[in-house]
Amino acid sequence: MADLSLEFCGIKFKHPIIIASLETTNSPEVIRECVDAGAAGMIVKTLTDIEDMARLTENSKYAILNEKNELIKGKVNKNYVFYSRSGYSSTALREWMPYLKELNKYAQDHGSHLIGSAGGKTVQSWVDICRTIEDCGLPMVELNFGCPHPAMMPGVHGGSMIGQEPDVAREVTARVCEAVKIPVVVKLTPDQSRVLDVARAVKEAGAAAVTATNRYTGFSVDIETGQPRLGGPAGIGGVWAKPLSLRWVHRIYTELGMPVTGSNGIYDHRDIVEFIMTGAPLVQVGSVLMLKGIKYLPSMISGLEEFMDKHGYPDIASMTGIASKRSVKDYGDQFRKPRMHSEITRDACKNPSCTICIQTCFYDALAQGVGKVDTLHANCIGCEMCTQTCPFGATGMHTTTEEARQVQSFFQIPPEVFEKGKFEKGFDRGIKLSKVKG
Ligand SMILES: Cc1cc2nc3c(=O)[nH]c(=O)nc-3n(C[C@H](O)[C@H](O)[C@H](O)COP(=O)(O)O)c2cc1C
Repeated sequence: MADLSLEFCGIKFKHPIIIASLETTNSPEVIRECVDAGAAGMIVKTLTDIEDMARLTENSKYAILNEKNELIKGKVNKNYVFYSRSGYSSTALREWMPYLKELNKYAQDHGSHLIGSAGGKTVQSWVDICRTIEDCGLPMVELNFGCPHPAMMPGVHGGSMIGQEPDVAREVTARVCEAVKIPVVVKLTPDQSRVLDVARAVKEAGAAAVTATNRYTGFSVDIETGQPRLGGPAGIGGVWAKPLSLRWVHRIYTELGMPVTGSNGIYDHRDIVEFIMTGAPLVQVGSVLMLKGIKYLPSMISGLEEFMDKHGYPDIASMTGIASKRSVKDYGDQFRKPRMHSEITRDACKNPSCTICIQTCFYDALAQGVGKVDTLHANCIGCEMCTQTCPFGATGMHTTTEEARQVQSFFQIPPEVFEKGKFEKGFDRGIKLSKVKG
């Protein structure tokens, strides 16, 4: 059986699935429920001294939408869109303190970990919250530089406002890292283009790891009423966000070589595997548990274990980052790969007049013949679209030989184009991009 345990920032986790900081970690009762369900760790709902962020949680609103942008009634499937507004923990830090100590012990007794999360009003309050978390015995703290809501609250400076400014993120991280000995993890915001700069800044400031990522800010409309949902902008997430989160996991893993925990877009064990293969060996599960209940967690753990056994991965390290390591470095790598072209298996094409393959070929490589679809190999660029739109699985890709490739490329650019001096006459240089047919 696969070994699911791993070490992250010097802490041993029994498996890679921890509970993200959100409503599922907002009370001692629910944290205990997470431990009992087998979570490897729980990040407490962000502890704060920002009153408005605590008040926001007491006024939380949710619009959970399906693929038609309608409110979900009942069954939640993988296409859900979680549109919501909530703040930080509504319970004051001093009230949390005895519970943090007790819950930390409860977690440890069950081979799990209680992790802190901070969101302060001033640089000093970030430091104070993190010190308190450490004093309560928690082994790790996450700095929430990713929350989308403070940016929309007048007078509040926190969350993604810090996470969008590398210098501010660096300063807060450095001050916290000077003040505590436990590993500091920074939760990043994807609501920007400088994610890598922020990750680099907090790494230089002493962060042990980053979390990629918190959620986006969105805007959603109920088209029946013409009203913005939840009255206006709000946080938004769901499995649709996963490839966007993975983009940052991939870049941080490959370019910064920094430990990453994955968040934003996990519904089941398949998503967890994707995060691990991209480079995040420890993952955080959030909104899906709000929608399905904590009892859903064990199915994710067993699903991961079954997947690893079935695919012969002995441990988490053997999966971590394998897809990122195999990724092209840039688009130029694509051009050096063998060329492919599409061919149709006549017997498999059950309805040659359905024409969906022809309609979805934008390179004129497929045409309606008599009682069959004709392939024009010379035009095929090997994009693979027809293999996915054909309902019969009748199209397949084949490697184009080097000889065929020489005459079959979609646009033939005459070799003299590349000779020095040919461009001097500008556009009137007699060069044509000719489409070669066979
Ligand atoms: C209702 C709600 C409340 C959240 N509250 C917090 C929070 O207090 N602190 C924090 O760091 N992240 C918070 N998050 C973000 C989650 O921790 C998590 O990063 C995000 O939901 C993406 O993961 P998911 O796709 O598994 O839901 C919240 C998310 C939701 C939906």
